[in-house]
Amino acid sequence: MKILGIESSCDETAAAVVENGVKIFSNVVASQVDIHARYGGIVPEVASRQHLLSITPIVQKAMDDAQVGWKDISAIAVTSGPGLAGSLLVGLSMAKTLAWAHRLSLVGVNHLEGHIYANWLIDDVPGFPLICLIVSGGHSDLILMRGHGDYVRLGCTRDDAAGEAFDKVARILGVGYPGGPAIEKVSRDSANSADYPLPRAWLKGSYDFSFSGLKTAVLRLFNCLDEPKPASDIAASFQEAVVDVLAAKTIEVARNYKVKRIVIAGGVAANKLLRKTVQERSTIPVSCPPPALCTDNAAMIAACGYFRFKQGVTSGLGLDVEPNLKLG
Ligand code: KG4
Ligand code: ZN
Repeated sequence: MKILGIESSCDETAAAVVENGVKIFSNVVASQVDIHARYGGIVPEVASRQHLLSITPIVQKAMDDAQVGWKDISAIAVTSGPGLAGSLLVGLSMAKTLAWAHRLSLVGVNHLEGHIYANWLIDDVPGFPLICLIVSGGHSDLILMRGHGDYVRLGCTRDDAAGEAFDKVARILGVGYPGGPAIEKVSRDSANSADYPLPRAWLKGSYDFSFSGLKTAVLRLFNCLDEPKPASDIAASFQEAVVDVLAAKTIEVARNYKVKRIVIAGGVAANKLLRKTVQERSTIPVSCPPPALCTDNAAMIAACGYFRFKQGVTSGLGLDVEPNLKLG
């Protein structure tokens, strides 16, 4: 069964065709990074206008790359939230129009749930129960997944999300945009990350996260340096602090809930130090999609849509965007 997935929640316009929730036939992503880079962050109005320009050719390319026609597609899965309202509307309107025109079922997908399902697109498909660490530009969540569609949120960020902290610290250090990949890149040049012991907010007794204090500590450190020091050392210390907390809490919750597997998802899961640290410290098997499936894409939306559709869950054409949609 082939599902067409459509994703437009933030600054990537994406479409993909996935079979049975596990096999990618096509996966097309049009990034707006170059357009937003000049503003140092995403401008929502610019993002929606760019989605409008990209959505039709991107969906067409996904169908062409997969070498399928509409008769081969069983349903259309689309991100309905969370995300930027104007951006979500473009993908959802496209999906509704195509579903109506081709008499196909529509399946609304939670973007965060989509991120988790990127782990079904790799060879080693996870079993339940599992703990998922979702770390993106807007979320840092620890989710217990007991089965398809069965989520309990055990922890979340109390202030900045992990990706947001990477983006803000990159701006403080002036190392580039988007912040996550920029921090990761300059950190490789660091020989002295241990020179800057930055604070970790452990929030003992809770699986929540907090990164705003760490961000402020970087700002203070950067402004108080007597003489200019390499940004790479501060960036590496910051990356280590974020990864240390994310890895420790993920492993702790996985152990306490006696899960079979840890899965990591979302844009920050592309970070090599995070992947390596969780894998090295955990005695429980750890899955992590390849970096291109960690950042926003539509294959993960199609994969999630397949499992929802198989459970008989579909959305009517009245489906609306939910910018603050939660998971678990
Ligand atoms: O999942 P995603 O592509 O979009 C959202 O749903 O938000 O995540 C984007 C976030 C951004 O904050 C970006 O800086 C971060 O993921 N990110 C990274 C890396 N690649 C992307 N953070 C750390 N290391 C990376 N390699
Ligand atoms: Zn995302």
